[in-house]
Amino acid sequence: MALKITVIGTGYLGATHAAAMAELGFEVLGLDVVPEKIEMLASGRVPMYEPGLEELLHKHVAGIEGSTGRLRFTTSWEEVGDFGDVHFVCVNTPQKHGEYGCDMSYVDAAFGALAPHLKKPALVVGKSTVPVGSAERLSRLLAERAPAGADVELAWNPEFLREGFAVRDTLHPDRIVVGVESERAEKLLREVYEVPVGEGSPFVVTDFPTAELVKTSANSFLATKISFINAMAEVCEAAGGDVAKLAEAIGYDERIGAKFLRAGIGFGGGCLPKDIRAFMARAGELGADQALTFLREIDSINMRRRGQMVGMAREALGDGTFLGKRVAVLGAAFKPDSDDVRDSPALNVAGQIHLQGGQVTVYDPKGMDNARRVFPTLAYADSVLEAVRGADVVLHLTEWQEFREVDPAVLGEVVNSRIILDGRNALDAARWREAGWTFRAMGRPRA
Ligand code: UDX
Repeated sequence: MALKITVIGTGYLGATHAAAMAELGFEVLGLDVVPEKIEMLASGRVPMYEPGLEELLHKHVAGIEGSTGRLRFTTSWEEVGDFGDVHFVCVNTPQKHGEYGCDMSYVDAAFGALAPHLKKPALVVGKSTVPVGSAERLSRLLAERAPAGADVELAWNPEFLREGFAVRDTLHPDRIVVGVESERAEKLLREVYEVPVGEGSPFVVTDFPTAELVKTSANSFLATKISFINAMAEVCEAAGGDVAKLAEAIGYDERIGAKFLRAGIGFGGGCLPKDIRAFMARAGELGADQALTFLREIDSINMRRRGQMVGMAREALGDGTFLGKRVAVLGAAFKPDSDDVRDSPALNVAGQIHLQGGQVTVYDPKGMDNARRVFPTLAYADSVLEAVRGADVVLHLTEWQEFREVDPAVLGEVVNSRIILDGRNALDAARWREAGWTFRAMGRPRA
């Protein structure tokens, strides 16, 4: 009989994972402790912007006309315990307030609530990004509290999905990593991932600590790559070099690779910044802090970029102050194809300029509602044209396709000064210059 799957926590990761499991053919029950989220998902709506996810929900959510009916949602732990053979825990692990460490309270609460309902044999699979050592602790918790005792086991299966590509990354992962302690657990997970593995996704079997570490080290490597190229951008700025050319040239070396070498205002979002900090905190607890001191530098290069963008804007305005100046900010989400503004470099730059007295107007294709919520004192416009009207300087801070396609000549008609600063190295400088704009990009020479 086909496995029955539950997904606990229906945020970014969980909602996508639940829909993807239904797409792979399993009966799926998703649980969240927030009833409004469950109501939304049960009617096929997604609480965030993620390309392709709503379509997938419509295809599978029970009760929607024409759906397979394989995907249902609940707030009942008892129902989840009775239903599932495999339970995926997908709750989030944010940064602790005011410190570097990882806030495990949602994970602990989820395991604590689930365990007493595990009355039949089951595999609990952790997907959240956690400090190394958590799986071992949670495995003991299950052993102590699950009524089915030794018939309940834990596995750790980190998730590598990127926002904006969540559906694709879940259905066609680069690799599947499973930390297991028994052949039975491995066998069950091979069954769950049979389709992607059959299509070529590598399946890496390891122990708990390695599985946990794969995730944090992968994110640390990506963060390092971005901060490396941003450090080179700083040197290019000082020496008159061109970081985009430099990145292209070093990227041809296959050992380096061309991806994740786009210099600009740096990384943000709900993962990379907090993951490298939590990793450093955990290494400290383990007495291995020296191994990761470089990550402190990666973090500070990254945070410095935001201030450098503010400085570049101030300089472009000529008289060294934002007072009385209108600044248009294109982009609020931490990256394109997402409405997520968590630790968004774009919004941070907008906020800094606002606090320094600039009149900032922000536009983002999808991130406006979230941006308004976290930064209500900024002004928001409904289009690029409205955002740049009367602007003394335009800042391009999230590289949406829409911004690449705007006509610089049309925008040039409504701004106060034709000055644009590209904080993402994604616009075509020649196009803007031909339309009479002063164009500057981070880490690149002035024309
Ligand atoms: C990341 C990891 O890529 C993913 O594997 C993990 O599961 C979660 O964290 P995500 O946060 O969705 O995914 O974003 P990602 O595409 O990695 O981008 C992170 C940040 O880096 C964004 O702010 C992006 O703008 C920035 N970035 C990325 C750069 O500044 N330069 C680059 O070259 C690439």
